[in-house]
Amino acid sequence: MEPIKYIGKERTEKIVFPKNLGFGQVFTDHLFEMDYNDEQGWHNPTIRTLESLKMHPATSFIHYGQTIFEGMKAFKTVQGDVVLFRPEVHLQRLNNSAKRICMPEIDVDFVLEALKELVAIDSDWIPANKGESLYIRPFMYGSDPALGVRPSNNYKLVIILSPVGAYYAEGFKPIKILIQDDYVRAVRKGLGECKTAANYAASLLAAKEAAKKGFTQVLWLDGLEQKYLQEVGTMNIFVNFKDEITTPALNGSILPGVIRRSVIQILKEWGMKITEREISVAEVISSYDKGNLLGLFGTGTAAIISSIGSLTYKDKNMSFNNGQPGELDVKLFDELSSIYYGEKEDLHNWLVKVEKKVVEVN
Ligand code: COI
Repeated sequence: MEPIKYIGKERTEKIVFPKNLGFGQVFTDHLFEMDYNDEQGWHNPTIRTLESLKMHPATSFIHYGQTIFEGMKAFKTVQGDVVLFRPEVHLQRLNNSAKRICMPEIDVDFVLEALKELVAIDSDWIPANKGESLYIRPFMYGSDPALGVRPSNNYKLVIILSPVGAYYAEGFKPIKILIQDDYVRAVRKGLGECKTAANYAASLLAAKEAAKKGFTQVLWLDGLEQKYLQEVGTMNIFVNFKDEITTPALNGSILPGVIRRSVIQILKEWGMKITEREISVAEVISSYDKGNLLGLFGTGTAAIISSIGSLTYKDKNMSFNNGQPGELDVKLFDELSSIYYGEKEDLHNWLVKVEKKVVEVN
C-alpha cells in the first residue's frame, strides 16, 4: 500500500466542547479514507479535512444497503496518554461483516496504523472527563454508480471521529426496556451478526413505538419462536441470576460485542459463574417471580455497561434495585473505566497506545 497522503488545514482556533456532549453530534477536523477496486485493491489512503461526501445518486449502497460499520473508542488516560480499546478486534469484526455481504476485507495492520495517525492528529478532540471519550466510526460502502442488483466493484472505507459522553439521555441511570415481539430484528443465518445498516433500519420502528410508551430501548427475541433473548438495539444483554450470570450464546443472529467478550473475560477472572446459552423470557419471568433474578445489564462500546431498571413483557413489569444501578453493573463499569482511563494496569493488553505525532497536514 502506498503511504498515507495528508490533505487539509490545521485548526487554529481552540476546540470548544458543548456542555453536554451526548452521542455522535460533534465531529473532529479530519477523516481517513481509502478506495477499493478489483484491479488496484485498496489504494489512495488519505487523511483530509472532514467534509461532506459527494456521490452519484445511483451509488449502489444507497439502494441495496451494501454498507457496514464499526464503533470503537479512544481515551485520554490519567497519565495523559491516548489509547484505543481493542481496535484490532473491531477491525477483524469489520472484516467478518465485510465477508457476509460480499465486500472486500481490509488489511487490519495497515488500517490500525492509519487510525492511530488520524487519532493522533485529532487528539485534542479527546475529552478528558471520566465517562467521555472519542468515538471512532469506521464504515465501508459499495460505491458503484449503477442500479443492477449485484456486489459493487468499487468501495470506500472512511473513518470519522466524534467526542462523546453517555449514549443514553438517562446518562448512567438505569434504563427501561421493553421486550419486543411485534417485529423481529434478525433471524439465524441472516444478517444479525453482521454490523450492517440493515439491522439498525430493522430496529427503528420498534424503538420508536417503545419510546412513545416511555421505554429507552427494546430487547429483541429470536426470530423463529420469539421465545429467547437476543440483544438490545444497541447492546448485548446479560442476565444476573442469583446462581449464574448468563448472556445469549452467539448463534449467528446476535452481534458479537467487544464489550460482551471483555465482560465475559472479566467475570471469569473474578471467579464468577458466567455462561453463554439460550435464555427464554419464561425463565426470566419465573426466576423474577421466585426472587432469583438480581437484574439485567447491557454491554456495548457506545453504552459501556448500562443498568436495566425495568423490563416489561406484555403486561408483566419487572423492576430491579429500586431504580438504582445494580451492584455488579457498577463494579463492571468501574473496572472497564479504570482500564480505559489508565487507573488500573492493562493486564489484558487491551489498550493500544497512540503516539502523539506531529504530522504536517497541508
Ligand atoms: C456501538 O456500541 O458502537 C454501536 O455500534 C451501537 C450504536 C451506536 C450503533
